[in-house]
Amino acid sequence: MRHLLDTRTLDHDTALQILDVAEDMADTQSRQVKKLPTLLGKTVVNLFFEDSTRTRISFEAAAKRLSADVINFAAKGSSVSKGESLKDTAQTLQAMGADAVVVRHSASGAPQTLATSGWISAGVVNAGDGTHEHPTQALLDAYTIRKRHYGADSRGRDLTGLRIVIVGDVLHSRVARSNVWLLSTLGAEVTLVTPPTLIPQNVSLWPVTVRYSLDEALAEGPDAVMMLRIQMERMHAAFFPNEREYTRLWGLDAVRVAGLPSTSIVMHPGPMNRGLEISSEAADSARSTVLEQVANGVSIRMAVLYLLLAGERPATGSGNDD
Ligand code: CP
Repeated sequence: MRHLLDTRTLDHDTALQILDVAEDMADTQSRQVKKLPTLLGKTVVNLFFEDSTRTRISFEAAAKRLSADVINFAAKGSSVSKGESLKDTAQTLQAMGADAVVVRHSASGAPQTLATSGWISAGVVNAGDGTHEHPTQALLDAYTIRKRHYGADSRGRDLTGLRIVIVGDVLHSRVARSNVWLLSTLGAEVTLVTPPTLIPQNVSLWPVTVRYSLDEALAEGPDAVMMLRIQMERMHAAFFPNEREYTRLWGLDAVRVAGLPSTSIVMHPGPMNRGLEISSEAADSARSTVLEQVANGVSIRMAVLYLLLAGERPATGSGNDD
């Protein structure tokens, strides 16, 4: 793997390979000494132009557990405020020795630009770009669904026949897009439930069923219900019904959770708007995998960094050091 830019072009076998390597990584994390020497001498740069808690810290933890050096860049407080471009910022960090650049940006396509422009030689991982994609989030979600469904027998299995309902602000959600592509590639049946104003115009081209009633979708007993954050910061007010109306029609609460089959799980990528798209009772219920998703994210990101960087020769030197 040279870059990880999206799940739309991720094939079935590569996706399964990432999930299976993540299983191996998770096994190492139950040991007393969690650190592996695998990426000793490699440098991972977290290049974040948008805020993040889970993704940035998870990539940092993953890189450090593989013994890579980590450089964290946040646009806030940097020379971006003086007008420095993406190209100059990336090349500056490349000059400090980056082997992989993990990039989050408000502009859809920014990671693709970094990967294909020739500006830098490092591998590029998309950590969320605009409303386009967030591939490692979808991979950790698929991992979580597979682990909950198959437990210790997960390795080598895809999600064929599992039914996943994704609920909420699909229009602005890179998490939803990455999940639609990945879950369907892995054989799952995906249903989107959303207000009519928050569905993308080209959804008829996606491998999904669209519903507008949450209660009808939940009555079919899905294996997983994935709630999405309402992204007010990307939204024109005219697109959003009032909050009380949204919660009544599309919010997940304890009553709706109680109506699900006992094996169904409740997911949310975070950060959550508690009381809006999900109640605290639903978010903290025994069905909720919110914190499992966070923990699984470290294993997935270890797997991605490993597949990107392990086995490469150092960029400098003879390469004849063994
Ligand atoms: N799920 C997710 O991307 O969370 P952060 O924005 O905190 O990274």
